[in-house]
Amino acid sequence: MSPLARNDRPCPAQMPDRPVVLVTGAARRLGRHLALHLGRCGYDIAVHLRRLPDADGQQLLDELRRLGARAECFAADLAVEADVESLVPRVLASLGRLDAVVNSASLFSDDDVHGLSYDSLQRHLLPNCGAPLLLARALHRHCEQAERTGCVVNVLDQKLWNPNPDHLSYTLSKAALESATGLLARALAPRLRVVGVALGVTLPSGPMTEAEFQAAHRMTPLGRSSTADDFAEAVAFLLRSPAITGTTLLVDGGQHLAAQPRDVFHLLKES
Ligand SMILES: NC(=O)c1ccc[n+]([C@@H]2O[C@H](COP(=O)([O-])OP(=O)(O)OC[C@H]3O[C@@H](n4cnc5c(N)ncnc54)[C@H](OP(=O)(O)O)[C@@H]3O)[C@@H](O)[C@H]2O)c1
Repeated sequence: MSPLARNDRPCPAQMPDRPVVLVTGAARRLGRHLALHLGRCGYDIAVHLRRLPDADGQQLLDELRRLGARAECFAADLAVEADVESLVPRVLASLGRLDAVVNSASLFSDDDVHGLSYDSLQRHLLPNCGAPLLLARALHRHCEQAERTGCVVNVLDQKLWNPNPDHLSYTLSKAALESATGLLARALAPRLRVVGVALGVTLPSGPMTEAEFQAAHRMTPLGRSSTADDFAEAVAFLLRSPAITGTTLLVDGGQHLAAQPRDVFHLLKES
């Protein structure tokens, strides 16, 4: 049975062979925070980034190695199918095994129905949903061959449960990924669990100021949205939870419960 699926030994730090997690978009922001958290929890880390050289990625490798984790960087443009298809084979050639993929990388740019184009749809759908699908399939193939179980975590957005028409292409790409989470959980069981974690406002994005970011947190029912630590701990929990598949954990201070007619960024700019 896979180390990730053992109830009696759920903590990777206690395992003889450290499991390997591929974190996409790991060089910066939430992906980086997650990679370091998982490194501290006892995982070895395949650090995905867009291209090399990447000074942030190199610094992350140094930090992970200081924590005692094996870590390597792997470049891929997630909008390019051949790059994505080669990613898991490269991780396996370098680190020898792969137990989980966390699809954190994403394109987040603003548009609405009036500015929508095939180009904006495609630019979001390929990295935000296409790449997670191909990576889940590749992990499944490996787990079948290795006779192990594995886990895919798709990073989603509370906005799917609290919809507004802003960031339309992004939202549609995450809605497709949320549907894919259930479909893949069914198609790839019992080898793979496929789960989602949906965040609220966690880091300031784009032109959001620190004051606006703090105000956005205060607008949630709990008076605080998600933090980078909340995100990392939720992913670590999902990775070690052998009975959870095909569902999404909302980690957002209840933001999805407070209906908002526009994206919080637009609400704050207009108030
Ligand atoms: N931040 C928040 O408050 C928040 C709220 C809700 C949900 N989320 C979700 O949480 C996840 C992480 O959020 P974040 O703010 O850390 O994300 P981010 O900074 O917007 O993007 C993360 C990474 O994705 C990479 N990326 C985008 N397109 C790519 C491509 N075609 N090929 C390779 N890499 C690509 C970027 O690489 P480069 O650095 O090279 O551009 C970036 O480092 C995302 O899935 C996001 O939707 C975040």
